[in-house]
Amino acid sequence: KKGNYDHFMQKEIHEQPHSLTTTMRGRLKHNSVLLGGLKEHMKTIRHSRRIVFIGCGTSYNAALAARPILEELSSIPVTMEIASDLLDRQGPIYREDTAVFVSQSGETADTLLALEYALENGALCVGITNTVGSTLARKTHCGIHINAGCEIGVASTKAYTSQIVVMVMMALAIGADRISTQARREDIINGLSDLPNQVSEVLKLDREMKDLAESLITLESLLVFGRGYNYATALEGALKVKEVALMHSEGMLAGEMKHGPLALVDETLPIIVIATRDSCFSKQQSVIQQLHARKGRLIVLCSKGDAQSVCPGRSCRIIEVPQVADCLQPVVNIIPLQLLAYHLTVLRGYNVDQPRNLAKSVTTQ
Ligand code: M6R
Repeated sequence: KKGNYDHFMQKEIHEQPHSLTTTMRGRLKHNSVLLGGLKEHMKTIRHSRRIVFIGCGTSYNAALAARPILEELSSIPVTMEIASDLLDRQGPIYREDTAVFVSQSGETADTLLALEYALENGALCVGITNTVGSTLARKTHCGIHINAGCEIGVASTKAYTSQIVVMVMMALAIGADRISTQARREDIINGLSDLPNQVSEVLKLDREMKDLAESLITLESLLVFGRGYNYATALEGALKVKEVALMHSEGMLAGEMKHGPLALVDETLPIIVIATRDSCFSKQQSVIQQLHARKGRLIVLCSKGDAQSVCPGRSCRIIEVPQVADCLQPVVNIIPLQLLAYHLTVLRGYNVDQPRNLAKSVTTQ
């Protein structure tokens, strides 16, 4: 039921402080993380030669957001596979791999076929899903339920943020045997406990994002530049906009900007640059300078209080969000972009919950 909301997508965006709380319930201890579903297989996971994330669409993007922290805390190489592409290439999967399948529905055909393929190749298969009893949950060796609650809007929103949180918790659990990263892990655990509050805070940007959407209604295209932890945010923000607002939108790795996309920049094309504080911040500052030099129409998503540092004396549109631990920042940063996609869709008069040509769960290849 939609309650006081006009659409399921809107309800699910605003529900995120609650869905994130249920995702973490019973799993965060003082300075450790409990993931019962992985416990028996933890030794195998820690000894695997590689961890391969496999998924489609938003679920793939969630895994991409969690990749850096998993690499950092586990020191195991982590690779990414879009399920259909893995199948097209019949890419190598080994017995020594841990293959992590991410799917909100647990019924996506491409993901399930990739699962069969990984099982045949002898990998340990882990499932991350929102759907208890789904094919993914049944056919994997072990897994984690994200417990985000039923998601009805075709555009995935609350499942995305819960998937990231589950994969960050997975990274913490895999890395739990290392003394050297204990302080780092404790910081992240503290950040997780406070994350629902920070998400409530960022949801207050609703009105501001509606205003921004109003200024973009008639435009044909939107670019989103991110890097590091927030490369995934760029891809996911752009996917939301194209999927529901039916506006062309591309998420791009900011490091690739000068290798082609820069040619698109002019006074009319809106470009969102994600420049919240983390180890990539100064690189994003210089991306903003370069876009300015080409008279780009900039919208900068930055940490609270950083408007002057990202856009000194210039005419950027600024979206300020609370700063959280670097690996949790994608959870906060995607919220304004979800709100933007939602308002753009309503203002452009399209169907928010049932975008044309799309189904909630893609059960055919
Ligand atoms: O159920 P799944 O997570 O496996 O679905 C994968 C994609 O089809 C899905 O995330 C799709 O990209 C969403 N509609 C995006 O909002």
